[in-house]
Amino acid sequence: MEGDMVTSVTELYKQKDWKAIVEGYREHPERNKLLWVFPTEENFEFITKCMEELKCNDILSVGCGSGLLEWIITEATGYPVSGLEVDGAWWQCRYAPPTFIPLKFTAPDLDKDTTTLLKDSDTTALLFCYFNNGPAFKRYLQYYSGKMMIIIGPGYGKGVHTDPTPFGDVPEAWTLYGWQEVACTKDFIAVYCRNIS
Ligand SMILES: C[S@@+](CC[C@H](N)C(=O)[O-])C[C@H]1O[C@@H](n2cnc3c(N)ncnc32)[C@H](O)[C@@H]1O
Repeated sequence: MEGDMVTSVTELYKQKDWKAIVEGYREHPERNKLLWVFPTEENFEFITKCMEELKCNDILSVGCGSGLLEWIITEATGYPVSGLEVDGAWWQCRYAPPTFIPLKFTAPDLDKDTTTLLKDSDTTALLFCYFNNGPAFKRYLQYYSGKMMIIIGPGYGKGVHTDPTPFGDVPEAWTLYGWQEVACTKDFIAVYCRNIS
């Protein structure tokens, strides 16, 4: 079954049919082999609106996994999305899932290239989708110079844990700017903006 799902999503990716992917696999039991959350068209409009209002030009997705969401966001919104992962060896090994964008890799405690990228991100939004590493999340925020952060993850009652969660694990320097549920999945997209000091 898993092979079937990966094959059919890859086929839709080759056809650039991101709408069929998000509509067809949002509730698929094997979906998290490739991606944890399949946003709606309304969600992409919400992200676009926030990007415009907060004057961001592109997105850096931390812990992007296969990069499927990142490819879909680019197709749906027109904003370039790059993806960062840890553990280059796993993602390049033969058992790893397919990847849908070129991945950038970092050391777990952030190497120089990564901290430089984060410090040079004034118009780049930072995205965490189902990120699961609270200490690393805080480390990324220490270096990030930009003003917009998107956290996608489960709300209360979903029965899945992430760190950060969309509502609750964000340092005081950040204010909740807006949020939307992903269809009726109990997953949420929360957008934060940096407080003006
Ligand atoms: C639950 S997966 C989510 C993957 C993808 N964002 C998604 O929604 O399908 C969490 C990802 O975060 C990555 N990760 C964990 N610690 C990280 C770190 N310090 N820097 C970058 N990625 C990290 C893991 O390798 C994993 O791929």
